[in-house]
Amino acid sequence: MQWRVHALFAELSLRAPSWQFVDVGNTGIVALELQVVSETLAILLDFPGGAPLQINNHIAWGALWTFKTNTVTLLDLLTNGFCASGHFLSNASMVSVGGSRAAAPGGADQSGLISLRIFEPCTSSDGSGCGIFDDPAQAHERCKMLIVGEIQEPNPFFNTPSMAVNTFEFFPATDGDVTRPSPFLERSMPANLFPRIFALPDGKIFMAANSRTIIYDMEARTERMLPDIPNGVRITNTYDGTAQLLPLSPAKYVPEVLVCGGTNSSDQVNPATELSSQDPASDQCSRIVLTEEGIRKGWEVERMLEGRMMPEMVLLPSGEVLIINGVGTGYASTFGVRDLVGQSNADHPILTPSLYTPSAPRGKRITNKGPPTSAIPRMYHSGVTLTPMGNLFVAGSNSNLFFNNNTVFNSELRAEYLNLPYTSMDCPVLRSVPKKIRYNRQFTISVDIPRSLRSGKMKVALMDLGFSSHAFHSGNRVVFMDAELSSNGKTLKIMPPPNNRVYPPGPGFIYLTIDDVTSVGVQVMVGSGATPPLADEGLLMNKSLFALFTNSVRL
Ligand SMILES: *[C@@H]1O[C@H](CO)[C@@H](O)[C@H](O)[C@H]1NC(C)=O
Ligand SMILES: *[C@@H]1O[C@H](CO)[C@@H](O)[C@H](O)[C@H]1NC(C)=O
Ligand SMILES: *[C@@H]1O[C@H](CO)[C@@H](O)[C@H](O)[C@H]1NC(C)=O
Repeated sequence: MQWRVHALFAELSLRAPSWQFVDVGNTGIVALELQVVSETLAILLDFPGGAPLQINNHIAWGALWTFKTNTVTLLDLLTNGFCASGHFLSNASMVSVGGSRAAAPGGADQSGLISLRIFEPCTSSDGSGCGIFDDPAQAHERCKMLIVGEIQEPNPFFNTPSMAVNTFEFFPATDGDVTRPSPFLERSMPANLFPRIFALPDGKIFMAANSRTIIYDMEARTERMLPDIPNGVRITNTYDGTAQLLPLSPAKYVPEVLVCGGTNSSDQVNPATELSSQDPASDQCSRIVLTEEGIRKGWEVERMLEGRMMPEMVLLPSGEVLIINGVGTGYASTFGVRDLVGQSNADHPILTPSLYTPSAPRGKRITNKGPPTSAIPRMYHSGVTLTPMGNLFVAGSNSNLFFNNNTVFNSELRAEYLNLPYTSMDCPVLRSVPKKIRYNRQFTISVDIPRSLRSGKMKVALMDLGFSSHAFHSGNRVVFMDAELSSNGKTLKIMPPPNNRVYPPGPGFIYLTIDDVTSVGVQVMVGSGATPPLADEGLLMNKSLFALFTNSVRL
C-alpha cells in the first residue's frame, strides 16, 4: 500500500516542501489513548464520559480512525478503559489493560479496573468488521507483557498509600496469581503513576517514576537503583514529563534514555493550596547511557526551548525525536490545584513542536526552526503517533472531568496531521516486503529510489509506533537495521535485529530514510507470530527472559 494525503497538498504544491499542520476533521470521541493498529487504522479510546457519538443506544468511547478517509468507525466496548495502557503481543493482538470504575451516564459501561480488551489483527482497510474482545473479568488471567503499578481509584491528584498497587505482574501470568512487590514503586510515591518503561537489549527493563530510576532484572527479581533524575525533576503523573528510549543501532545496540519536561515541584504538598495552574513546568531534558560506564557518568542535563508539562516525544524514522504538545505551566489531571482554568490544572499550551537530534552535540540538539505552530491546544488526555504514511496524527485533549466544549480548554475532537517536508516530496518506495521477518535472518526487498536521492545517506528503521497516552508512548522504538543496496539501486538486503530483546516479537513498521526523505512505512511481523509466551529467538548476546512490555498503569 503506497499512498499519502497528496490531495491536501494540491494547493501547496508550488511552495518548497515544508512542515505543515493540516486539519483533518473530527475523531468523534476524545483520542485520549491512541495506537496505530495496521497500515490503514488507528484505535482511539476515550473516557466513557459523554462525547457526543452513540453506538447501539449508548455513548461511544472506542473508535477506529481510517487514515485514508479521515473518518471514524465506532467500536462497541463493554468496559471503561480510562487511563489504561496497551501493547501488541507477539501474535499481533493488541491488548489494552486495566481502566477505571464504571462511570458512563446511564450505566453504559462496566468497571474496567481488572479488565482486558483485545483487538485482534484486522485486515479490513476501513475498520468495518474489526472487533474488540472486551472481558470485564480477564485481568487476572495474565502473556508476555509486564504490567507496572496502578491505583485502584479515580486519581485524587497523587497516588495514595491505601489505594496504590505498587507491584509488577505479567500477562499471561508467569508467577501464578502472585504479583511482585516493588520497592522502587514504593520509593517513588506519590507522583508515580504511568511509570516510563523500556525493554533493554539485554532483556532487563529500565523504569522511571517520579525522580527515581532503576533497571529491573526479571529473572533475578532485583531492582538496581540508578541515579535520580537531576535537580529534583519528577516525570510521572500527575507531574508528567516524558521519556524515550533513543534509537538502537547495530552492532552494539547501546541503550540510551532521554527524559524531558515534568516539574521540580515538591510532592510533599497539599495540591489544593500549594500548587497552581500557573507554576512553571521544567525545561530540563536528561539523558543517560545504560552501560556500566554510562551509569557511572550519570545523567547529562540539557534544556528545552521552554518548560513543558505533559510533553510527548515521538521517534521519527530518521532517528530524530519530535517533542510536541503539553503546557508551559501547571499539572496533569483535572481539578486538584489552585487557579483552575475552567477545570484544567494546567495553562499556557505550547503550540510549536521542537525537534531533538540525538547525534548532535549537547546544546545544539533542540530546535523549533522548521516545525510549524498549531492552533489547537493539546493538553491533558491528548495523543500523537507517527503514522504508516510517515507523518504524525495528532488528536485529543480533555482537561475536563467530562466532555465539555463550552469552557476555556474545550474537550477536543479536532484531529490534525503534522506533515514533514518529505510528505510532499518524491520519496523512496519499498516493494515486495515479506509479511514476516525472522531475527538475524537477512531478507531482500525491492526499492524505487528517486534519482535525486541515489547518492544519499540511507537508514532503514524497524519501528514500534507505540501506544500514546498520558505523555508517554508505551513500546515506541526504533531499531536501525544494516542494509546493502544492490549496484543497480533496485534491491536492498536488510539484516533484521539479532534477537527478540533488541526488538520484542510482534508487529513493526519498516521505513527507509534517505537523507531527510522517508518512505511510507510497511507493516511486518517480527518473529514467528506465535502466541506468547515464546522462547528466546535469534542470536542472543547474553541469556535472560524475552520481553514485550508496557507501563500499563490504571487510575
Ligand atoms: C459541543 O458538543 C455538542 C454535543 O455535546 C455538539 O452538539 C456541539 O456541536 C458541540 N459544539 C462545538 C462548537 O463543537
Ligand atoms: C525549578 O524549576 C523552575 C522552573 O523551571 C526554575 O525556575 C527553578 O530554578 C527550579 N528550581 C530548582 C531549585 O532547580
Ligand atoms: C494472542 O494471544 C492472546 C493471549 O494468549 C490471545 O488472547 C489472542 O487471542 C491471540 N491472538 C491471536 C491472533 O492468536
